Amino acid sequence: MENLQKLAKIAFASEFSFYLKAHQFHWNVEGMFFESLHTLFGRIYEEVYGSIDEFAEKIRSLDTYMPGSYTRFSMLTQIEDETEMLDGKQMVQELLKDNEKLKIIFKKLFEVAEAAGEHGFSDFVAARIDAHDKHGWQLKATLK
Ligand SMILES: [Fe+2]
Repeated sequence: MENLQKLAKIAFASEFSFYLKAHQFHWNVEGMFFESLHTLFGRIYEEVYGSIDEFAEKIRSLDTYMPGSYTRFSMLTQIEDETEMLDGKQMVQELLKDNEKLKIIFKKLFEVAEAAGEHGFSDFVAARIDAHDKHGWQLKATLK
């Protein structure tokens, strides 16, 4: 159970970092493809942001407290911060790479939750994998 709680917090902090990065890209993207990338990043950050409250409350149901500070998030997240200004294509590439990393984290979390008999929790995690599959498809298609 302790392993599940720890991994859940790592996944949460990583998801939050991913949300923030997609939102930052939505704000700062420039160039000929501004409109479509601004919209794509907007759709991604809104979907991820829409999941985080339920995610946090599911983790609370595992009888542990939620990290909720940038200090704690930076200790837990597996998604690297981006502080440089990227061009649109680099933004899509980076988000796709982060999305792949998140899928690996969520798949591991799913296995650990199943092994712990936390089927309600793993059901939520499976839905996150589904959502990130969709984000991955759209990011990949954008790069072609
Ligand atoms: Fe906006």
